[in-house]
Amino acid sequence: MLQQLKTAAVNAQKNAHAPYSKFYVGAAIIANDGKIYNGCNVENAAYPLGQCAEASAIGAMVTQGATQIQQIIVVSPNAEYCYPCGGCRQKIAEFAQADTPVILMTSEGECTTTTVAELLPHAYVFPLDDQQD
Ligand code: THU
Repeated sequence: MLQQLKTAAVNAQKNAHAPYSKFYVGAAIIANDGKIYNGCNVENAAYPLGQCAEASAIGAMVTQGATQIQQIIVVSPNAEYCYPCGGCRQKIAEFAQADTPVILMTSEGECTTTTVAELLPHAYVFPLDDQQD
């Protein structure tokens, strides 16, 4: 399954739309439905409108009705790990647990694993249970 996750991330990375930064990123998720969802970064001429690979993969997952990230991998375009940006850490946390593995892979295939809690300690969580109908 890990090999399939890596392959899905690398395949997504090939489709990255990153003409401005030329920094091509791929991501892939194993979700609670047992399926793999992938995504790439999608930049825009209006720079702030660009979307990270992680956000694309999360969008693909949610669109298909899955609700939980079991593992996520992010593939960088170079020999350094591409750690998720702050916004993506929050986006991942929305659909994951504190101990959910976040795998980083370089263009050489080297991997390291961290967790959601390590990337985003003291994550903001909306108190949904306290809401009145
Ligand atoms: N990027 C990602 O897709 N994921 C990350 O974790 C960090 C950065 C993208 C955003 C932008 O398209 C490009 O990389 C350069 O920052």
